[in-house]
Amino acid sequence: MKRIEPELAVLLDPDWASGSLVDDVRRGLTRHPRTLPPRWLYDDHGSALFDQITRQPEYYPFNAERAILEAHADEIVAASGATALVELGSGTSEKTRLLLDAFTRTGQLTRFSPVDVSEGTLRDAAAQIADAYPGLEVVGVVGDFTLHLSHLPEGGRRMVAFLGGTIGNLYLEERSAFLSILADLLEPGDSLLLGTDLVKSTDRLIAAYHDEAGVTEDFIRNSLTVINRELGADFDQSAFTYIPFWDAHMERIDMRLRSEVPQRVTVPGADLFLDLDVGEEIRVEISTKFRISKVAAELEAAGLVVGRVWTDEPGDFALTLATKP
Ligand code: SAH
Ligand code: TRP
Repeated sequence: MKRIEPELAVLLDPDWASGSLVDDVRRGLTRHPRTLPPRWLYDDHGSALFDQITRQPEYYPFNAERAILEAHADEIVAASGATALVELGSGTSEKTRLLLDAFTRTGQLTRFSPVDVSEGTLRDAAAQIADAYPGLEVVGVVGDFTLHLSHLPEGGRRMVAFLGGTIGNLYLEERSAFLSILADLLEPGDSLLLGTDLVKSTDRLIAAYHDEAGVTEDFIRNSLTVINRELGADFDQSAFTYIPFWDAHMERIDMRLRSEVPQRVTVPGADLFLDLDVGEEIRVEISTKFRISKVAAELEAAGLVVGRVWTDEPGDFALTLATKP
């Protein structure tokens, strides 16, 4: 079969990055506790750091999810009955190839649509997938899955894959809004394949986000580098400490940067200065951990019907397939 040139729809306008970065920085950094929205972690350098995180020995979620796909991709593909695969937050789509391989064995797939805010990463991934899967139509979307769900490519019976535990990076309200919006725009018979990391010993959870090599710390700190570069800010990395901790009440890892000195940071591009107290923290990212019953309850509340759930052998990670009735 012939290689089909991938198409790319860019939904983020060229000013999106600068425009929403200013809005996000103004809104997030001026409220208490101060926050930074995680999509700013994924500039080209951040995407490369994330790729390294997945190779750290302490970071078990990547291998756990891959093990599930290695063992069960054929069943997942059969259960979905899908002819089109959409992937949200697709990144390099490395693990997704296990699904694409299974789809190739059944011959049922016609289109693959990876969706990501990181344009460079998406372009590379789309080209590589088009090379590796001749005959597959690849329609990438450079977009934000919290804003652009209504623009997902339509047609065929779709399975939307949302892997990597990325849903856990949304705050509770964002998560329920996301699931309802997605469920509403799926057609009957379409499905969602959702990857969620599961609650486990606190030691293992913390270690996964505080690796020896310091890659996750660099990834979180990169958010300050992005603001320095894009908005001319003067964040001094040495004045901040990386603090990842387990929030047992919310059942999530909370990743923060703590100001070690009283300091004034100026952010000219957002017309802003911040006076930070000693010990004041900026919340950069969360990673929520789930229980299987909770995932099912949230999917059902959004209007989906939960079908099968697969876990890896040790029960570290789950993939849930839910269908729009
Ligand atoms: N699915 C891959 C990558 C997970 S990392 C895996 O399982 O390994 C999260 C990915 O989501 C990154 O590629 C990042 O660029 C993307 N992302 C983060 N926030 C996003 C948003 N709001 N909209 C679209 N993509 C987003
Ligand atoms: N979604 C994955 C997770 O929560 C990957 C990820 C997102 C991540 N943000 C992160 C990993 C920050 C480490 C640090 O595990």
